[in-house]
Amino acid sequence: MGTGQTVAVFGAYGHTGRFVVTELRSRGFVPLLLGRDEDRLRELAAAHPATAYRVASADDAASLDRGLTGAAAVVNAAGPFAATAGPVIEAALRAGIAYVDVAAEIEANVDTFTHYADRARAAGVAVVPAMAFFGGLGDLLVTAAMGDWTAADEAHVAYGLSSWHPTAGTRVSGTVSHRRRDGRRVRHTGGRLEYYAADGDLPTVEWDFPAPTGRRTVLAGFTMADVVTVPSHLSIPEVRTYMTADAARDLAAPETPAPAAVDERGRSAQTFTVDVVVRSGDTRRRVVATGRDIYAVSAPLAVEAVERLLDGRTAATGVASAGQIFDAPDFLRALSTHLDIARHDDSRVPRPA
Ligand SMILES: NC(=O)c1ccc[n+]([C@@H]2O[C@H](COP(=O)([O-])OP(=O)(O)OC[C@H]3O[C@@H](n4cnc5c(N)ncnc54)[C@H](OP(=O)(O)O)[C@@H]3O)[C@@H](O)[C@H]2O)c1
Repeated sequence: MGTGQTVAVFGAYGHTGRFVVTELRSRGFVPLLLGRDEDRLRELAAAHPATAYRVASADDAASLDRGLTGAAAVVNAAGPFAATAGPVIEAALRAGIAYVDVAAEIEANVDTFTHYADRARAAGVAVVPAMAFFGGLGDLLVTAAMGDWTAADEAHVAYGLSSWHPTAGTRVSGTVSHRRRDGRRVRHTGGRLEYYAADGDLPTVEWDFPAPTGRRTVLAGFTMADVVTVPSHLSIPEVRTYMTADAARDLAAPETPAPAAVDERGRSAQTFTVDVVVRSGDTRRRVVATGRDIYAVSAPLAVEAVERLLDGRTAATGVASAGQIFDAPDFLRALSTHLDIARHDDSRVPRPA
């Protein structure tokens, strides 16, 4: 549990930031609310007794320095991260404090590894990108599935979402990533990230998720941040991610509403199954996570990371993904009130195309 340490949340009044603030408080941390809109900060602070806020903007380094003063770590929940990750990491390095973000933008995640690996290591500061549902959870599951393997031929991460009601932040981040790709698609193959010409619709395959999700049509080549986090520390030349076709349609449709709270934790009705299969030769290993609301679950993922960074339960420093810096099976066990994790024996492993 947190020991009353202050943790800054940049983008605190966003949909995900609010879950992070609540999760920090529930674990005994003191959240410090950061963002660029003073009215929205004040309103959020009023809902959380004894919680301070500071106006800070990604394009104003001095405001970020003031914002991080006195904080032991910072969670960046403000996306598009193409605009916020660099400035907030720079501020975290100046302050000498750990940085965690929830970025699901492949190019922004790559930038974080490329631009900050050396400087963060030299500064002895931990920087953990994509510490959320996409990127972080998949990496933890792949790492846990690997067990004693140090290399594998393939990793498959299949996302079985019951629906996907995206937030404004998700939509804008998707647009920014799309623009950065200049009409191309991206995949991790042959041990590297590869951009390729988009040629028609993404192919579909049938994926047998464990019950109750069952057999679902998924889009192959629906590439998520796991293609950055997993290969950053595991020797797996082929990393593929899949998305239920229905959820992808929701995401693409402009009329799909934003997520609406239906329970006392503020979670939506959305459920998820993340089915991870790693293959080495003829042997497959599979770990499956199920839970509720991809935005809500990102908060315990990010805050568990903060807690471990602050109490020293880490295996690396500098820029590192969740699976590299944390003990993946132990991390997943710690989230048992948010995630059900099951290992499946080889006989039930699907054979993806
Ligand atoms: N990896 C994952 O699984 C995962 C999970 C959850 C969220 N995310 C990502 O996290 C981001 C936020 O998502 P959300 O659901 O919280 O969206 P949201 O509700 O729309 O909130 C976005 C937040 O980011 C802030 N923001 C955006 N650009 C900013 C900038 N240049 N400077 C300062 N603040 C800025 C917004 O503040 P203003 O209102 O002032 O613009 C707002 O607080 C998105 O990129 C989303 O894709 C990823």
